[in-house]
Formats: sequence, structure tokens, C-alpha cells
Amino acid sequence: MPRPVSVTYRVWPTTDDLAAAAAEFFASVVSAAVRVRGVARVALSGGTTPKRMFALLADRNAPTFTQVPWERLQIFWVDERCVPPTDAESNYRMTEEAMLEHVPVAAAQVHRMEGELDPEVAAARYEAAIRAAFRLEGAQTPAFDLVLLGLGEDGHTASLFSHTEALHEMGRIVVANHVLQKETWRITLTWPVIQQGREVAFLIEGAAKAQVVQDVFLGAYDPEAKPAQMVRPASGRLTLLLDAAAAEKLPRPAGSEAAGTGSSYVATLEI
Ligand code: 6PG
Repeated sequence: MPRPVSVTYRVWPTTDDLAAAAAEFFASVVSAAVRVRGVARVALSGGTTPKRMFALLADRNAPTFTQVPWERLQIFWVDERCVPPTDAESNYRMTEEAMLEHVPVAAAQVHRMEGELDPEVAAARYEAAIRAAFRLEGAQTPAFDLVLLGLGEDGHTASLFSHTEALHEMGRIVVANHVLQKETWRITLTWPVIQQGREVAFLIEGAAKAQVVQDVFLGAYDPEAKPAQMVRPASGRLTLLLDAAAAEKLPRPAGSEAAGTGSSYVATLEI
């Protein structure tokens, strides 16, 4: 039986409210990490959902801009498409355009997955880069201060898609994963790395995700079909940051209904 995990889900009325809250969450997590360890190592997901949050973090007029210890960040990715960094599909390009080119981080703080290379070569090079950055020895697993995940409508997260080989990789840190359903290769962190995250959070928005949110977090345990169900952090804690549309099929705590649809709320569930 999988490790029990306490899921805290924080729900905001709109995508803008969610982005602001996610930016505050990010600033809080990385600031705490820097206070304790002098550095904050984050693994970011791509796709489209994080764009709004990244743009807000890069907004010099937003309160979070001065809260983030930018010079102490080490930025990694959870996964990448096997395309050049200039490609419209590149998670790196999305993050660069939405945030990195607008904030004071040096190139040495940004650790890009080299999607332009042969997938296996890129995965091996990225694993070596992580080992060096975390000064890992032997079979040690890196503990990112924040692993920020998205959720696909098909229940995948990172580039861990249903019925793909990478779902079963428990030894390596980074692998190349052939995703038959997309007829493409991806580079992705593996489960052991995701589980080891000191803070692991899903950022999910939109009505199109409401059903998969219910299926993954309340439905039958079937990680081959719904890989996001394998996210069970060693910390025993998991955070979901959602807008109301994506949280539509999650139970609302008593009383929050009375507060009306325009309010935010926090609830927990055990998985
Ligand atoms: C990617 C992501 C992937 C993403 C989900 C959700 O490379 O696409 O890392 O895991 O987080 O597919 O994507 P959206 O945010 O676009 O819905």
C-alpha cells in the first residue's frame, strides 16, 4: 500500500488569484530554504499553467519580487521536451520569456535540460549536473527545496506519462522517456527525486482539470493509468494550489460554501 500522505489543497476564485497565491507560496518556500541552507534549489514544471505565476514573480511592482532571494536560487526543471531551447514547445523557453529574462539571476544559476541533444545524452548530462550541484555521493537522491508540478488531463505529471517506461525507474535521477501517446521523447526527473522534495506542490487551473483532479486525488489507486497518483512525498505532505474551476470536484470544507464562490479556502484530505 502506498505511503499515506496529507494533502493540503488551497483554492482561489480565479486564475489571477491563484497566480498571486502561487507566487507568494514560491517566495515563502525559497526564502525559508535560503534562511536554513543559504540556497534554494527549485525544480520547475513547464506546460502553460505556471506562466501566469512566473510573470507575476518577474513583476518588479509585485510584492513578491523583493521577497524572492533571486541571487540564492538554483533553478532546475522537472522535465523538458526534446526540442531546442528556442522552440515554442520548450519549457526552458517558456520560463525564460515569462520570468528568467526579467529577474536578477545569473546564467550559472539556471540549469537547463538540453532538449536539443540526443535524449539519453541529455538525461545523463542533466543527472551529472544535478549530482554536481547537490554534491551527491553514490546512490544519494537530491532533495529539491521545491518541486513544482503540473497535472495533465490524462493524469500525467512531469513527463511521467501513463504506461511509459520511466514510471518504473527508481534508480536514476533523470531519464529519457519515450511517450508513445505523444509520439515523442521527453527528459524527466524520476519518482525518487520528486518524492524527496522538501516541498512538493501541484499548480492546477481550469475547469478542464476538474475531473482529473478528482480521479487522481479521490479516485481508485491506479498509478499506471494516473501517474500523478505516485506523487507521495517522503515528507508525508503534498500541497495542491488550484483555482475554483479545477477544484470543482473536490470536497469543500463546511462553511466555505457560505463564504460564497468568490472566496478562497483551504482543506485537507488523506491519500
Ligand atoms: C510539460 C509539463 C507537464 C505539465 C502538464 C500540465 O512539459 O508539459 O511539465 O507535466 O505540467 O502537462 O500542463 P499544462 O500546465 O499546460 O496544463
